[in-house]
Amino acid sequence: MVEEALKQFNVTKDGMEEIAKRLTGCFVEGLSKEKHNSSVKMFITYVHSLPDGSEVGEYLALDLGGSNFRVLKIIIKDDGTIEQKVAKEKLTKDKITSTQEVLFDHVADCVAEFIAEHGIKETLPLGYTFSFPVDQQSLTSGVLVRWTKGFDADGAVGKDVVQLLIDAFKRKKLANVDVVALVNDTTGTQMALGLGNPDCYVGLILGTGTNACYMEETSNIPKYTGDKSKNSHVIINCEWGAFGEKGELDDFRNKVDEELDKGAVNVKEQQYEKMISGKYLGEMVRLVCYDLITKKLLCGGKMLPVFEEREKFESAYLSMIEQGDGSDLSKIKSLKDNNEVSILADANDDDCRIIRRVCEAVSTRAARLAAAGIVALVRKIKKVDKCTVAVDGSLYKLHPHFKDRMIAAMKEMEPNNGIVMKLSEDGSGRGAAMVAAVAHRMKKQ
Ligand code: GLC
Repeated sequence: MVEEALKQFNVTKDGMEEIAKRLTGCFVEGLSKEKHNSSVKMFITYVHSLPDGSEVGEYLALDLGGSNFRVLKIIIKDDGTIEQKVAKEKLTKDKITSTQEVLFDHVADCVAEFIAEHGIKETLPLGYTFSFPVDQQSLTSGVLVRWTKGFDADGAVGKDVVQLLIDAFKRKKLANVDVVALVNDTTGTQMALGLGNPDCYVGLILGTGTNACYMEETSNIPKYTGDKSKNSHVIINCEWGAFGEKGELDDFRNKVDEELDKGAVNVKEQQYEKMISGKYLGEMVRLVCYDLITKKLLCGGKMLPVFEEREKFESAYLSMIEQGDGSDLSKIKSLKDNNEVSILADANDDDCRIIRRVCEAVSTRAARLAAAGIVALVRKIKKVDKCTVAVDGSLYKLHPHFKDRMIAAMKEMEPNNGIVMKLSEDGSGRGAAMVAAVAHRMKKQ
């Protein structure tokens, strides 16, 4: 009975092929012309090459776009080694869902504190990782198209996000920062690994949200208005999280997906992201378990508090519950929330097994959908034989089986592929510094 309910999360090989085909259609449409109708926007990043090793110096980097906000000072040395200092700040709901002034004032306060704490006197070039859909007009400007991942600060959509940051710096009388590059986290991740990995054509984030970027030939981008003879390549930020908004995933979505969508702040948006990323997987497991309990298939029909309320079951729990081979149920039973309260103490052995199966079904589907996306991209650039994918994000790093399941799914689709997934540790921060380095050099020339 339980297995019957979980069948709705199965994605077959044919299913993955179909998703890859539809996604490719969206990639092509998104690149076609300025005003296209694709759900996948394919934004031009104005980053034209991977780092070549000449990027040295001291930079600041900001990383805004997940559950934490970070300020970093990064020193790139001649020998390619990197030294960094980081300050991390948890972003509370009131900061991200109020107004843009509240959000950016907070950002500016953190930067001011960091500069004071580290005694930074000189004006440092700053790389700004802003991981939301931004339609860039240049390396230092871009309009926010929409918020994603639960952010909803009023007054930012439709505005230049670099200007919003500079305005906040002015309000806080912060003079010694020079924003030289605006970067998406995918691009930062690709750039951070690109040094020393010339086959690194793709950047991938599997964290709170999901998205990918890749190096495209400008001759394949009809909407590219720059000088194609000067710039043969440019990184494209796909914003693939929005895939599915035009119904492309309707026959793969189930009742749980619909239910989850209804409860989100961004209803009907980011469908692919909602099926894959860390912001949503916990809630998806909760909804399935809630349903199983009401059908008396779990916990003898007794509702546990962790399944009762929206977003109470965190995505991090999936990583903990799925650890090991499933034979040791004591770890599941002793799972605690942030307040050290046991959340599954009332579940018996069978219940624990079922909860683990639910987690597996939900995260396996996510891994297979993400795999279809990577295969689609790699096929598009004809690099199936050899391609390094730079990956970062909490889901990828913390989930015990996500990576292996993705690799297995890619192998189903392309048995002889040469796709290698490599962790680009802290790509958003270091990558932003890399792009800042290139931009700063160009500015001085
Ligand atoms: C969301 C954002 C995107 C970002 C991704 C991963 O999809 O819209 O810009 O890259 O999350 O953080």
